[in-house]
Amino acid sequence: MEIVYKTLEEIDLIKESSLLVGKTLANVASFMKPGITTLELDAIANDFIRANGAIPTFYGYREYRFSSCISVNSEIVHGLPSKRVIKEGDIVSVDIGVTKNGWVGDSAYTFMVGEVDDEYENLLSITYDCLYAGIEMAIVGNRVGDISNAVQSLAQKHRYGVVRELVGHGVGKNLHEKPDVPNFGKKGSGPLIHAGLVIAIEPMINAGTKEVKQLRDGWTIVTADNKPSAHFEHTIAVMPEGPPQILSSFEEIEKAVDLNKELTRVVKDRQIKKVN
Ligand code: MF3
Ligand code: CO
Repeated sequence: MEIVYKTLEEIDLIKESSLLVGKTLANVASFMKPGITTLELDAIANDFIRANGAIPTFYGYREYRFSSCISVNSEIVHGLPSKRVIKEGDIVSVDIGVTKNGWVGDSAYTFMVGEVDDEYENLLSITYDCLYAGIEMAIVGNRVGDISNAVQSLAQKHRYGVVRELVGHGVGKNLHEKPDVPNFGKKGSGPLIHAGLVIAIEPMINAGTKEVKQLRDGWTIVTADNKPSAHFEHTIAVMPEGPPQILSSFEEIEKAVDLNKELTRVVKDRQIKKVN
């Protein structure tokens, strides 16, 4: 299959799907608290997507049986929702795709649950920056390798491991289209970037080495050294001129995250008052 470039109208449709992923992740974020299971979070995502007239893209993809991938701590991606209970100090990546009007949107966010080790927090913030460093390079005239190189350089500057086995990808009527968008590579390598290219850029960055293992469940990818890993993903479109358009959005997710923090603080304050 060749790269399928999208018209401005098609980009708007992919944006609608991608924004719904952001809203779904924001809804999941509001429930992201110690005590909830990853299966419950998956059900919340599934209900929200269907209530909004869309279909969870992952469900049924290669016989995948969930609406989200939820990967905790040393799990990198493709974590299977389960009875695993989220606890304070965890970092939790939630990856969701939706199909609406036949078009796919794909996005992922890694959450901190309550107070998290500085080591984890730093990993998240650098991975976040890697995503935006990659996005910046998605302009007409550059090559896919320029995106890859920007992600890799920033991660390696911080001595993090860059996962190679899994890559970003084209997005459109299908979840995975051409081209592959690796998170490592040489400047000036790979396919030329033209207007209408729609891709998911998704750095997977490990606190330790780049080495990965797959669990016996046939899906979950974990770090070989058991150190934590982070994952952020946006679906973006290359515009005829100027910077790329980010079709998914973290805005509502981050509002939900802030509200969570605020509520936790209020509850803690009250408990302190009670004790006094
Ligand atoms: N966002 C992931 C990807 O782009 C999700 C695919 S997981 C699957 O590859 F469940 F759909 F397989
Ligand atoms: Co993806």
